[in-house]
Amino acid sequence: MSDAIVPDARFAADWLALREPADHAARSSGLSEAAAARLHAARDDTLRIVDLGCGSGSNLRHLAPRLPGPQHWHLVDHDADLLARAARECAEQRDRSGRPVTLETIAADLARDPGVLIAGAHLVTAAALLDLVDAEWLDRLASACAAHAVPALIALSVDGDLAFEADGAPEDEDDAFVFARLAEHQHRDKGFGAALGTQAPAAFERAFQRHGWHVASAASPWRLGRDDARLAAALIDGWREAATAQAPARAARIAGWARRRAADVAAGRACCRVGHRDLLATPPRAEP
Ligand SMILES: C[S@@+](CC[C@H](N)C(=O)[O-])C[C@H]1O[C@@H](n2cnc3c(N)ncnc32)[C@H](O)[C@@H]1O
Repeated sequence: MSDAIVPDARFAADWLALREPADHAARSSGLSEAAAARLHAARDDTLRIVDLGCGSGSNLRHLAPRLPGPQHWHLVDHDADLLARAARECAEQRDRSGRPVTLETIAADLARDPGVLIAGAHLVTAAALLDLVDAEWLDRLASACAAHAVPALIALSVDGDLAFEADGAPEDEDDAFVFARLAEHQHRDKGFGAALGTQAPAAFERAFQRHGWHVASAASPWRLGRDDARLAAALIDGWREAATAQAPARAARIAGWARRRAADVAAGRACCRVGHRDLLATPPRAEP
């Protein structure tokens, strides 16, 4: 399965580990609580939760202790190494009542058919996945959730709100240039067709609203300052790589920008804001 992974859809375990604390801190507690309340009300037996694009299991580690149980997770990814890591690193997780969580890993290409993975679940969830998919895939996800009445809690989808909030750092005229190249790169095909990038949260809302579903949305931004300088440096380096792939002739200009901005964050002169949205789609309430 790993052989077929397109390079832009492969994520290093080190990168996922580095971002995990910032991801967990940024997430909307309100939407997790709303999902927990629904699961509690709907519960008849073991809760089956499907995590699409689970990586090394960060989403389970965040959600399991916040949700009722007993829980059984289906962790889905196309990267066998990340799945093996997820199984190891989630082995000790417990639900909010302290009961051990069980899980199985599923090596699958999500681009094929999200519907088969969702049938019979009580909740479908994903984190940091939505920017990779296209609008048609979101329509298929929404149709599958609607067909099986499965709520969807989708966290940490980038929304395009990017800025270096200066605290004594000079304006950098290359911010706009690099962010524009990054936005272009975010639309490259990551295995699902033309990726939605920062348009994904709005497209998700439209896709579910077409089925009459309610979508709650909450901001979950990163604000990376001096204490997060390692994560900021890795993020900025990733942006350098993406922008350079779009504009190879400007590689030196982009590298200079990356050095300046990483130094600004490390020195506490600027804070790097990266906007995300958390989304919870739920079916219309049944008539009394
Ligand atoms: C940015 S990572 C997020 C991982 C994890 N949800 C987290 O929050 O740390 C995106 C994940 O989606 C997976 N992925 C991307 N395209 C996929 C596809 N077509 N099928 C299955 N998994 C995919 C990647 O392997 C990666 O683990």
